[in-house]
Amino acid sequence: MKKLNLLGCFLLGCFMVKAQDSTIKSSVKNVEAKVDSVLTLMTLEEKVGQLVQYNGSWDLTGPASEMNNKQKEENLKAGKVGAMLNVLSVDATREAQKLVMENSRLQIPLMFGYDVIHGYTTIFPVPLAETASWDLEAMERTAEIAALESAANGVNWTFSPMIDVSRDARWGRIMEGSGEDPYLTSKVAVAKVKGYQSEDLANPRSIAATAKHFAGYGFGEAGRDYNTVHIGENELHNTILPPFKAAADAGVATFMNAFNDLDGIPATGHKTLQRDILKRDWDWNGFVVSDWGSIPEMIAHGIAKDKKEAAKIALNAGSDMDMEGGAYESSLVDLVEEGEVSEDYINDAVKRVLRVKFKLGLFDDPYLYSNANLLDQISFEEHKAVARDVAKKSIVLLKNEKDLLPIKEFVKKIAVIGPLADDKDTPIGNWRAQGEANSAVSLLEGLQNNNDENVEISYAKGADLGVGERSFLMPLEINETDKSGFEEAINTASEADLVIVALGEDAFQTGEGRSQVNIGLAGVQQELLEEIYKVNQNVVLVLINGRPLEITWAAENIPAIVEAWQLGSESGNAIADVLLGDYNPSGKLPVSFPRAVGQEPLYYNQKSTGRPSNPTHVTYSGYTDEKKDALYPFGFGLSYTDFEYGDLQLSSEEMDANGSIEASITLSNIGNVEGKEIVQLYLRDLVASTTRPVKELKGFEAVNLAPGESKTVTFEIDEEMLQFYNANRKWESEAGEFEVFIGGNSRDLQKATFSLKK
Ligand code: NOJ
Repeated sequence: MKKLNLLGCFLLGCFMVKAQDSTIKSSVKNVEAKVDSVLTLMTLEEKVGQLVQYNGSWDLTGPASEMNNKQKEENLKAGKVGAMLNVLSVDATREAQKLVMENSRLQIPLMFGYDVIHGYTTIFPVPLAETASWDLEAMERTAEIAALESAANGVNWTFSPMIDVSRDARWGRIMEGSGEDPYLTSKVAVAKVKGYQSEDLANPRSIAATAKHFAGYGFGEAGRDYNTVHIGENELHNTILPPFKAAADAGVATFMNAFNDLDGIPATGHKTLQRDILKRDWDWNGFVVSDWGSIPEMIAHGIAKDKKEAAKIALNAGSDMDMEGGAYESSLVDLVEEGEVSEDYINDAVKRVLRVKFKLGLFDDPYLYSNANLLDQISFEEHKAVARDVAKKSIVLLKNEKDLLPIKEFVKKIAVIGPLADDKDTPIGNWRAQGEANSAVSLLEGLQNNNDENVEISYAKGADLGVGERSFLMPLEINETDKSGFEEAINTASEADLVIVALGEDAFQTGEGRSQVNIGLAGVQQELLEEIYKVNQNVVLVLINGRPLEITWAAENIPAIVEAWQLGSESGNAIADVLLGDYNPSGKLPVSFPRAVGQEPLYYNQKSTGRPSNPTHVTYSGYTDEKKDALYPFGFGLSYTDFEYGDLQLSSEEMDANGSIEASITLSNIGNVEGKEIVQLYLRDLVASTTRPVKELKGFEAVNLAPGESKTVTFEIDEEMLQFYNANRKWESEAGEFEVFIGGNSRDLQKATFSLKK
């Protein structure tokens, strides 16, 4: 088809208006008019092209060598592609964009997506870890930095935040999300969307975000990745959807659907989820991208007989863009012509894609994100400082007996031991984008950088984690049996005043496809810990991991335990800040730590059941060989100071449907150092039309207190906070009794009751 110069003029005219008046950029009305005007010019083939996303696995700055890539280049030139992923660098994105802008008839710019999950070059804590900071401002800031570093490398769309509530530590992807609680995950979702997208998507330093995976992916059977999800409407609406609703309300530009099926229907082909709930009920106007190949995967699911049928099911269900699945490009035109897919559905999908492109400013300047100068404006030193700050806030102190921490001045000889003690790679974690391998500050380096020079630090690795080479595709084999390093480690430990043992998981042991049936200390790590403890009981265990671990022996025997996750580029410095007392730990667990893997899925916000805990009789809803509750519960984390909670006061014991009451508590720092406490509010609906969780997080506040200082923390409780998806299939509150809890974790709480009158 002839290239349209006239059309170019039309489009140019249309887009120039925008360039002259920046306020028009954010004008919804204007964007809609432009979207409509472009749509009317498009052929069916061009429309379908906008719904196709290619992986840019070839070197776009040179000629494509493989046939498949040559064909992809031809399709880019023909305007048959709407977006790409994994095209990294200003030059490569510019080249790909040029293929479209200099050859295609309508010159509709591409979007470039990438998995920027916890940083681009500067790596922040993995999302589960970062959530442990409960610091929404810090999380927004790290997203803002990740967006800037991405934009400076040509990327204008991240496949983040991952907001799948997940309650099963066996699932490797638990590290990518914010844990087991829908309220906390919702808050993080909003912070991340704001950070990535800023106030104005057309700001060249911000990028489009993706709420993923819609929906239910975190509930795969028995923690197995990609697996069947059996949840009913109640769980779907009350637990899984709230973070997605929060992201939609925050204006997230795109959603990604999921690999799993949900009660028999693959999420990718799930009309109720995508078309009815997301697009109709929530009135959200961005676009849904499939997960990688999840459209043709509906063949393996046994829902479609071939790619064409898969394309039909997906598009009709509201999946707008096909990520590297090859289904839309091969079938959608035919499906429309055969009347199997309506052109209205195609138009709606295309408008959604165009809308995001307009908002990103790509029609004003297709090369807006291929700006080589932006990289020079970045202060990586400043970004590192932010990484250290958020990393230290993400650390959770699980146990501190014998007053081992912070490390005391009289400690003159420290032994640093363990396979992760001097590991510069594991803290970078999985989904590391362009975070360089071995670029983190190791724990040993952190201590050396920050310690008093009169203190002698000795190091022995003791053992390896596993064998093989680390990579995203093939993680280490975690079956190490070699104990030849034990002797040196034991000797080093026996001569020290204090032993710091760093154990946990390999960098790629969590993440996609990393489900495990064992979540203890793998390989010979447990044995190493026990051998060291035999010769020196002054042990601080530092855990470096991406999922909750089974650490029951350590919890019973080791006096101090620090959960240091995979903290990113500045890991070792941040851990040293906490161990040396330069930062008083304030992190709280976003996920329960089990006593035994058999407790999984484990979460604090369980249902009561008809037989709640009754340990004096065997017939209750627990186990005969283990306690029912967590080893360390959701919301748990110690400080170097002690906090005391006063009595919980309610402003009234009755609340009107349009009123509110206040719940207050006085928090005092009764220890010797300044500290920060995350005060948590939980509610329980005692009698309702459906069963309700025994408690649900509904608010939190970070409080800094000097020694001896007290502060009254007040939470306002209103009717909206009491709403849930009830037996009427609506978000409503129901009159009756409620319990209010306030405390420093989900287990140790003060309680009061009130009633809602309607
Ligand atoms: C598959 C993952 O499930 C998804 O989270 C990711 O964004 C895509 N691959 C693209 O890499």
